[in-house]
Amino acid sequence: MLTTQQKVLRRFWYAVIPVEDLKEGPKAFTLLGEDIVLFLGPDGKPAALKDRCCHRTAKLSKGWCKEGHIVCGYHGWEYDQTGKLAHVPQFPVQQEVPNLSTPAFHCQEKYGYVWVALDEPLAPIFDVAEDTDASFRRIPQFYEVWNTSALRLMENSFDNAHFAFVHKGTFGQLDQPLPEKYEIKETDYGFEAETLITVANPPIQYKISGTDAPTTKRHMRNKWYMPFCRRLDIEYPSGLRHIILNSATPIDDGHIMVVQWLYRNDTEADCPAQLLIDWDFKITREDKDIIESTDFDTPIDMGRRAEAHMVSDKPGMIMRKRLMDLLQKHGESEVFRAA
Ligand code: FES
Ligand code: CO
Repeated sequence: MLTTQQKVLRRFWYAVIPVEDLKEGPKAFTLLGEDIVLFLGPDGKPAALKDRCCHRTAKLSKGWCKEGHIVCGYHGWEYDQTGKLAHVPQFPVQQEVPNLSTPAFHCQEKYGYVWVALDEPLAPIFDVAEDTDASFRRIPQFYEVWNTSALRLMENSFDNAHFAFVHKGTFGQLDQPLPEKYEIKETDYGFEAETLITVANPPIQYKISGTDAPTTKRHMRNKWYMPFCRRLDIEYPSGLRHIILNSATPIDDGHIMVVQWLYRNDTEADCPAQLLIDWDFKITREDKDIIESTDFDTPIDMGRRAEAHMVSDKPGMIMRKRLMDLLQKHGESEVFRAA
């Protein structure tokens, strides 16, 4: 599936940038192949516009912000947060500003990030109850480009067969290749998937897992939010929770912005945020290296028979089917790269 070619994917919310980054001024982003500019409006709320001035097409992201407007860096035309042209500095004061605008996209702040939907959203952004629960702290972890497709990362998140191999240097056990089964319950937004796995617990992980035993169990109650967000909810035997949220935001067909943040029900004194970031970074390097070696064009039409499967691929197979159903419901067929 080529994400930029499937129009219905424009109707979902994606995390595009940490809201903090917009305090420095407007920022460019490419979402599903669409060039957008993000900036803070007069009320401090984020706005997303097409990154193109209607005068001579310059990228608005090369400009700056002035009292909640974005100023084009070429000749200074100003736009408000709805994309409407608000001021033309070359016009005498009595001359009316022409009724012109650059398209605006759905935009809001949530969980410390700016979220954008290019077309009318089919559903709200998923809820994370822990975000307003005082016993949890929120830790932003990564914001980085991976050379792969969003579906590859989603499938990898629910693939219990890769730990022993990809993560043999961290928590995987190479001599335990048999994957644990997932209990999957499909929902309107995607699915819930529960599993209990045993993982290696090297000393560096003692503070993260809350135990110094050589192995530990992870009770995982994960969620897939169609199409490209997931919740990885790990509970250790001590009751310690490690809840990773991701938006695999599609930049184009072969690149994603991996946005990852974490919730923990312990304190900075129990386990410093930097240790959690460093540990999860090490693990994601292992995933990134292998996923970037796969073909980014992930087939969702089972009739294509482009890949071989095994039982532990079931969560990914459900994703493929649900995405195929979504396309069909919206009158689309899968667009893929010619072999
Ligand atoms: Fe933007 Fe001229 S191109 S003001
Ligand atoms: Co992994």
